[in-house]
Amino acid sequence: MPNPTEIIAGIARSRLKTIAEREARRFAAARPKTRAALEAGAGNYLDRVPMHWMKDWPMPFPMLVAKAAGARLTDIDGYGIDDFCLGDTGSMFGHSPAPVAKAIRKQAKNGLTYMLPTEAALEAGALLTERFGDFKWQIAMTATDANRFALRVARAVSGKPKVLVFNGCYHGTVDDAMVERQNGRTVTRPGLTGQVTDLAEVAACAEFNDLASVEAELKTGQIAAILTEPVMTNSCMVLPDPGFHDGLRKLATQYGALLVIDETHTISSGLGGYTAVHGLDPDIFVVGKCVAGGMPTAAWGLRPKVATDYLAFNAGRASGHSGMGTTLSANPMQFACLRATLAEVMTKDAYTHMEKGAERLCSGLSEVISRVNAPWHVVRVGARVEFVCAPGPLRNGSEAAMAHMPEVEATLHTALLNRGCLIAPFHNMMLISPATKKRQIDRLIGAFDEILTELFA
Ligand SMILES: Cc1ncc(COP(=O)(O)O)c(C=O)c1O
Repeated sequence: MPNPTEIIAGIARSRLKTIAEREARRFAAARPKTRAALEAGAGNYLDRVPMHWMKDWPMPFPMLVAKAAGARLTDIDGYGIDDFCLGDTGSMFGHSPAPVAKAIRKQAKNGLTYMLPTEAALEAGALLTERFGDFKWQIAMTATDANRFALRVARAVSGKPKVLVFNGCYHGTVDDAMVERQNGRTVTRPGLTGQVTDLAEVAACAEFNDLASVEAELKTGQIAAILTEPVMTNSCMVLPDPGFHDGLRKLATQYGALLVIDETHTISSGLGGYTAVHGLDPDIFVVGKCVAGGMPTAAWGLRPKVATDYLAFNAGRASGHSGMGTTLSANPMQFACLRATLAEVMTKDAYTHMEKGAERLCSGLSEVISRVNAPWHVVRVGARVEFVCAPGPLRNGSEAAMAHMPEVEATLHTALLNRGCLIAPFHNMMLISPATKKRQIDRLIGAFDEILTELFA
């Protein structure tokens, strides 16, 4: 019997190490141009990258992208890569969708940013309502900002101080959501940079799929808003139990908290996002990243009653800064792209293609996992698929944290990339876009098969 500590996610650790080292060498040896360019130019950046998470990729050094179109990237060494790392990005509907690229070219002739609306803004407003429902909309640059503003509104209209989030959640770099649950208590996440206040004073953390833990927090009378994704997509993926969202809705109403649904990732679940597909009823709806086809844009909408309450609050507040908004928000380029995306990119046909491809990927990966007898599972919501290197299904953020296997995932990601497939670096998320081809999906399944066959030999 092998020593159990020598086994990780069903794989012999020594085998994993050998394969990880071989794949890292292979990546580096294949990219002399990238290596030379980084050597010459990266030193101007803090820690050699323009954004710190570019270091989170498992390869020995980042790829430098030369171009991207549809669901494909080309790096400066000339490798064509099938891009399945779309689900964490603004390119969930593919890179540079044609209607968006056209809208950018047209708007570029008419000014990039000014603090006034355009006719396209009015059309985009109508499309937002048509797609996502009866909300009064505001536009932000990022989903992080949209969530921050939504939470301010919830506190303003409820007069309550705290936001309730779920263990393992991510809603952007919103301070209030940077808490976790330890032994039934809410604590500030330990890794935060420069954090000097105790976030448990402004936030409470419950477990996903555990309505009792939600109700216990609501009973304190302190909760202004429940902020949640419909499906947890920022840990290993956790689907809601049947009845969980109904329960959240009922509890929020019963205890006078607003329900904020963050669809930034789950917009890939189907037309109108998970909310429309599954009939959720949020008080505030947030969507970002891909909503303008890659142009940095987020939209957040208030149900008419919340909008009325907020406007009443606004009329009565002291004059001066409200803490809402940023200079570049709601610029004309955003509206040109938002209108193009909502009208011509996020279509029913596009979602049908995405869903079908995701189903193919999900069943292909599942077959490989069962053939090699790996103690793993695959989970999917709409166009978003994740393999998890642990048994499932997972029910909450604590279970998802335990299922995360960084060592195994890093090896797999590099090995997949060496076989022409890019997946998200943080866990094992893949997204099928309207531009993703069947042959790309089959190549990914084939590469996964080749690697797992070796890992589990
Ligand atoms: C569910 C969710 N909400 C909000 C955000 C924040 O988006 P951004 O980084 O574009 O502000 C993210 C980012 O990953 C997210 O996953």
